[in-house]
Amino acid sequence: MGVPGERRKENYRVFVLGAGSMAEAFIRGVTEERAVTPGHVRVINRSGGGRLEELRDMYGISPAQSLAEAAQSDLVVLSVKPADMATALDQVRPYLNGQLLMSFAAGVTRAWITDQVNGRAHVIRAMPNLPVAVLAGATAVTFGPDIADGERQHVLYLLEQIGKVVELPESLMDAATAFSGSGPGFVCYFLEAMENAAVELGIPAETARALLLQTVVGTAKSLEYWGLTPAELRKRVTSPGGTTHAGVTAMQTGDLNGVVTEALRAAADRSAEMGRQYRA
Ligand SMILES: NC(=O)c1ccc[n+]([C@@H]2O[C@H](COP(=O)([O-])OP(=O)(O)OC[C@H]3O[C@@H](n4cnc5c(N)ncnc54)[C@H](OP(=O)(O)O)[C@@H]3O)[C@@H](O)[C@H]2O)c1
Repeated sequence: MGVPGERRKENYRVFVLGAGSMAEAFIRGVTEERAVTPGHVRVINRSGGGRLEELRDMYGISPAQSLAEAAQSDLVVLSVKPADMATALDQVRPYLNGQLLMSFAAGVTRAWITDQVNGRAHVIRAMPNLPVAVLAGATAVTFGPDIADGERQHVLYLLEQIGKVVELPESLMDAATAFSGSGPGFVCYFLEAMENAAVELGIPAETARALLLQTVVGTAKSLEYWGLTPAELRKRVTSPGGTTHAGVTAMQTGDLNGVVTEALRAAADRSAEMGRQYRA
């Protein structure tokens, strides 16, 4: 990763199209440790007004007066819903002149975006997840061969400000969307089931939740600290004939593995389908 700041580029200008929760997480991440100078970040949405002023007051960035300001940026971040991509790309196209253009939209391919902007930008497709809001996200990202290594490294550095980042070939982006993009929802669904089960066993819901949260955080920290795989840690805490063994055996009987594989496949298929659906 190197020394923070070493990969920082002076005078790097970012134009953010969209001012929702994902845009805010990105803005917070890159401005908090000054990976980008707040005054060099411009942001625009459709409705203008209060939301842009709120972002200005919180992060010191500047609301853009018009999309034309994208022309002066090094990186344009597209943080609009997949359904709004076609219109947003149409509107910003005249102001693209070879900048980097990074999209956060599920399912929408680099090739399609490049086509929509008539090749006037170098397109990056990234898939962050909800915990970027607390700078603890997991982002999968894919670059094309048209992007120089220095530019690529710098974008990786910017994304590292909102959490962990992995680079993947684009063919795996729908799978990554299912896995890490939807991951927080899946983990929460499992936790919900754990909480319901704890209540069934007589533990009050609030107490169950406190134990649950600490169990999740503690397990994640242990995995990271010891550098173990989940299977290794599970085996470490599973004594033959013990309580974990009894519980895991019940999960195997119910084919938890099969259910999870099915769930991820459904989410990946949906990501690909959304990409097709929103192409105008
Ligand atoms: N939130 C997540 O956890 C998450 C996770 C992974 C990926 N993503 C992706 O990140 C993107 C943004 O998500 P979000 O949750 O931040 O969405 P959001 O809260 O709905 O925000 C979307 C923003 O886009 C603006 N917008 C739409 N069309 C526009 C246009 N033509 N010109 C200018 N601004 C336009 C909207 O402006 P107005 O409000 O003025 O209409 C709004 O500020 C989506 O593609 C989403 O799939 C989100």
